[in-house]
Amino acid sequence: MGKTKIGIVGTGSISHYHLKAYQKNADVEIYAVCDVNGERAAVTAASFGASAVYTNYAAMMADPQVDAVSICTWNNTHAPFAIEALEAGKHVLVEKPLCLTVEQALEVEKTVVKSGKVLQIGYVRRYDPNALMLQQWIARGEVGDIHYAKASSLRRLGNPGGWFADKSRSGGGPLIDLGVHIIDLCWYLMGRPKVKSVSGNTYKKLGQRSHVKGLTFYKSADYDANSNTVEDLANALIRFENGASLMVDVSFTLHARKDEGLVRLYGDKGGIEIDPEVLLVTEKSDTIVTVSPQTDHASFDADQAFQNEIDHFISCCREGRSPESPVQDGVEMMKILCGIYESAELGREIVFD
Ligand SMILES: NC(=O)c1ccc[n+]([C@@H]2O[C@H](COP(=O)([O-])OP(=O)(O)OC[C@H]3O[C@@H](n4cnc5c(N)ncnc54)[C@H](O)[C@@H]3O)[C@@H](O)[C@H]2O)c1
Repeated sequence: MGKTKIGIVGTGSISHYHLKAYQKNADVEIYAVCDVNGERAAVTAASFGASAVYTNYAAMMADPQVDAVSICTWNNTHAPFAIEALEAGKHVLVEKPLCLTVEQALEVEKTVVKSGKVLQIGYVRRYDPNALMLQQWIARGEVGDIHYAKASSLRRLGNPGGWFADKSRSGGGPLIDLGVHIIDLCWYLMGRPKVKSVSGNTYKKLGQRSHVKGLTFYKSADYDANSNTVEDLANALIRFENGASLMVDVSFTLHARKDEGLVRLYGDKGGIEIDPEVLLVTEKSDTIVTVSPQTDHASFDADQAFQNEIDHFISCCREGRSPESPVQDGVEMMKILCGIYESAELGREIVFD
């Protein structure tokens, strides 16, 4: 079997994590890149040795040499681009979130089944070495049944602006951008229980706060201080059919002393923390102990996580295997995220049948 020829659409910031990882995979040729910004596409192609450069996605999809695509564009393009690629007979790695609505997620799922191609969602937190280790511990019963999880991703100042701040292109603010990562990580480690109900709140009180001095933060290329249509804070209580629950809060900006990342899961045999540092709390000879694993990184290792994600995608494509983060998980996630937005809008809990 020859190398798997990859095409990347969207050559902004996250694409470079994909490209660096593809570059290190011996079974891959970075064949094509595509971006509506032709200059950005050309620079990226030159840096990573891609032989084909496109500014039109349909043209890249018509290229029979492309075996698989990484979709690294704005959230509103994920579903149409994934469907177009699958229908053109290509495997798909799509960045999070899978799409903007449950209906779109079901449409993508239908196309995956019909095409028989691989679709992997870029839930990169699942592929982090610490998450992989904890998943094994959970499978071996070290934590017992997980009944509660709590996750926060709070930025005091960090609305990236541009498309991130434009609801029509992003689908929302910190909930769909940051929340998707930590909700997915908890849900995955909890054993992917079916969601029963969600109750959420969103707030749009502080805006982009572009007047703030003294703190730098990531800004998207097309940053516009006057335009912001997304929430700056969201919180939610998610109930699952197995009785477990997850509490989450996320912000792009908040009057907080510092940024905070927290992911904790509690079982009947032990508790685990992933953010800010991986650890296990359990009992040993009638004493509560905190076990601090000796691993290369105490917290999220982005480079290795992306490498694992990309290596897994390539082996699924080549071996015809189902990925660890399949389209079905995107459908359940869109139920949760859209349910939270709906709950916040209606001011009441949303119950799923
Ligand atoms: N896994 C993670 O940790 C992580 C982190 C950041 C972003 N992301 C996701 O990656 C995606 C991209 O985010 P980013 O930060 O790289 O954004 P970005 O703005 O830096 O890059 C997006 C690129 O897509 C291009 N683009 C937009 N529409 C296009 C189209 N129709 N055809 C071709 N190119 C098009 C833009 O010109 C831009 O170069 C988003 O879905 C985001 O949620 C994931």
